[in-house]
Amino acid sequence: MNFFEVRDGELWCEGVPLSRIAHEVGTPVYVYSTATLERHYTVFQDAFAPRKVLVAYAVKANSNVSVLKTLARLGAGADTVSEGEIRRALAAGVPPSRIVFSGVGKTRRELAFAVELGVAEINVESEPEIDLLSEVAALLDARPKITIRVNPDVSAGGHAKIATGKSENKFGVSFSEAERLYAKASADPNLDPIGVACHIGSQITDLAPMAEAFAKMRGLVERLRGQGLTVERLDLGGGLGAPYFDSPAPPEPAQFARMVETVLEGLDIDLVFEPGRVIAANAGVLLSRVIHVHERPEGRRFLVVDGAMNDLVRPAMYDAFHDIRPVKTPRTGANLSAFDVVGPVCETGDTFCRDRELPPLEAGDLVAFMTAGAYGAAMSSEYNTRPLAPEVLVKGNQYAVVRPRPTYEEMLAREPLAPWL
Ligand code: LLP
Repeated sequence: MNFFEVRDGELWCEGVPLSRIAHEVGTPVYVYSTATLERHYTVFQDAFAPRKVLVAYAVKANSNVSVLKTLARLGAGADTVSEGEIRRALAAGVPPSRIVFSGVGKTRRELAFAVELGVAEINVESEPEIDLLSEVAALLDARPKITIRVNPDVSAGGHAKIATGKSENKFGVSFSEAERLYAKASADPNLDPIGVACHIGSQITDLAPMAEAFAKMRGLVERLRGQGLTVERLDLGGGLGAPYFDSPAPPEPAQFARMVETVLEGLDIDLVFEPGRVIAANAGVLLSRVIHVHERPEGRRFLVVDGAMNDLVRPAMYDAFHDIRPVKTPRTGANLSAFDVVGPVCETGDTFCRDRELPPLEAGDLVAFMTAGAYGAAMSSEYNTRPLAPEVLVKGNQYAVVRPRPTYEEMLAREPLAPWL
């Protein structure tokens, strides 16, 4: 559920009409709903009650500092994959004890930064990384808490570019490697192995592959414990899908939690989750204005909007579907007709969708790309020298610009000329 609703004939975010934000901030613009973020975080956390779990929100999904702070105030941790994301989490007030540091290629500098900070866990993904971390820890005279990330070799469906849990993907080590590396790390005076981790993919809408992976993880925990090793923590990653369409709806966090409890029944262990999309996706829209409708005599109709693939790359990159809703409610009985919705970027790939049935739309109308709160602004770029779309956070009947649109002067000032030019 989310707090983007029709009121008085137009789409609002909580207590603010989207048309007001478009008018005052300009388009394209990302708009996020505080109530939706809070609700999604709370629903996920509460699904596991009375068990206390660390919900480390995956910063990559939406890394705006105000979004992070909204979640941090509810007690969220942060799953991070770079020094930059750790710095964002800290800026939002997430304590290091709730920061998880994941990623296949952490640099020496990044590892040192996380070790000095004393993050909750560093999820190590390969043997060379363990060796490098051990070296870094020895130099800093520290003993970082680590988990070994396992690749459970499970296929979770979804788009190939975001599947991570098969052995052909770059993430994590095999179960047998994990056992060997866990023993190796346990014998290393510079490392404190506390658990194991996995993450099998994103936008997963079927609980079965997750249950299969988690059961395999449970087996690993039991084998390691059987060898006399201490395993306190199991990090089960993120990946739960968000409802991009009305149906079929992905499993609710409560169903996900029941599955986890069933698979882990009787196992005494601390749990960590790294949800991103399920918390942020439905909490944001990309608001865009129609520039014009270009109708070809031979039939195709292009709805050219001022948002583009640089603002929301998911359709171009993963053929992702985003519902497109006119901000002004169409008059009753308005006929739907097919549009290709495209942005102004000079690439055919800058196509949000083909043959989408939409009500009548014309130049100046506003449309909202729904479910754009996750992997929207976070993946945006300035391709075609288009300024990054600003981000707005709504709370009740107030809103704040939480990342302004850069001016052209600011954009150009970032590029000093080479002295010989
Ligand atoms: N933990 C790890 C280790 C991850 O790699 C990811 C996402 C997550 C947690 C959060 O997964 P989520 O709960 O959001 O599914 N850009 C793509 C999605 C990439 C996901 C990458 N990893 C998209 O727009 O669909």
